[in-house]
Amino acid sequence: MTKLNWGMIGGGEGSQIGPAHRLSAGLDGLFSFVAGALDHNPEAGRCYAQKLGVASDRAYGDWREMLQGENAREDRVDLVTVATPNSTHFEITKAFLESGYHVLCEKPMTMTVEEGEDIVRIARKSGKICAVNYGYTGYSLVRHMKAMIARGDLGKVRLVVTEFAHGHHADAADADNPRVRWRYDPAQAGVSAQFADCGIHALHMASFVTGQEVTKLSADCASLIESRVLEDDAMVNFRMDGGTVGRLWTSSVAIGRQHGLTIQVFGEKGGLKWMQEHPNQLYYMPLNGRLQTIERGEANLSPEADRATRVTIGHAEGMPLAFANIYTDLAEVISAQKEGQSADPAANLYPKSEDGLRSMAAVAAVAKSGKEEGAWVDARPPMFR
Ligand code: NAI
Repeated sequence: MTKLNWGMIGGGEGSQIGPAHRLSAGLDGLFSFVAGALDHNPEAGRCYAQKLGVASDRAYGDWREMLQGENAREDRVDLVTVATPNSTHFEITKAFLESGYHVLCEKPMTMTVEEGEDIVRIARKSGKICAVNYGYTGYSLVRHMKAMIARGDLGKVRLVVTEFAHGHHADAADADNPRVRWRYDPAQAGVSAQFADCGIHALHMASFVTGQEVTKLSADCASLIESRVLEDDAMVNFRMDGGTVGRLWTSSVAIGRQHGLTIQVFGEKGGLKWMQEHPNQLYYMPLNGRLQTIERGEANLSPEADRATRVTIGHAEGMPLAFANIYTDLAEVISAQKEGQSADPAANLYPKSEDGLRSMAAVAAVAKSGKEEGAWVDARPPMFR
């Protein structure tokens, strides 16, 4: 594979997710970091990009300047990552897709279902990739979980139970801190806070591992810090198109919980449990059998799991390596497209704009159901009904 050119928007100095993207994109030597508009402050963005090794003429002050600059080059970036705050994802992703770039957009892909549908249409029309960073699906044992379920190890899946509950916005005295407050302000966050931020990871994970889509849901949303307009806690019941029953809890006031993403799947013939904070172990209980610990890197895992692992068993692999698996998938698909070949189907596991759109429909459904005291609401995007 030829090395691809990669650029980034957002992810400036001190940002939360920027470093994880740079580590991940660089990990396998498949991408060179050649261009960026990294910060809302143009000068800070230019300086930081150069500090990270980007040439001065490609260290841009903002994303429009980057689009113009890259359009004028023969060696324009092959993939752009959008890691800016949520409300900017739509216009940046749309502009780059329309100009013929592949995009990896951070979640949530857009602020509304309508914008999500636009992105799906534009991506389909342009033939360019629009991936969405549900990066936790890149973990080796999450991919193994999906493979086990697909090959029938659990039989028919009856129940999926998933959580993304942390305690990092639990301090009422800190609720007015500007870094926390905007997340619960409808003008900046949209119709949902905690579900749109974390719940969608858990819901997407349920679809990813079961291979089923969410059809309808019922939500109980609460603002447990009273000054908040949007929810900081939600319990969501859902149904999937393969008949599976789903339960999801998300919270930002669960003191003592750190990251808090977990998923359990229960079928007719067994159960599985995986926790993001201990990603190198998957727990498998066959019906009437004994609880087994499946270790990342052990022999006889699925090809999907083997493909997504790098260091030998017993050495922990963590979040940037999971994100790196998304980048590796993208590199393979983009390279194959450039060379007029078809990519290995195993590279097709990265989350797509259709997944980003489904999340937006779920966000709208959770907000609606929450307002209607848990009424069951269609959670499918209109264009997929
Ligand atoms: P942050 O506030 O820590 O950093 C945002 C960065 O974007 C800053 O460097 C800021 O200067 C820059 N920025 C803001 N507006 C910009 C613009 N118009 N052009 C260029 N740069 C701009 O935010 P954080 O936590 O890193 O989140 C960024 C995105 O990543 C959000 O959409 C968030 O939901 C997502 N995220 C995803 C995670 C995942 O697991 N997939 C985890 C954490 C965040």
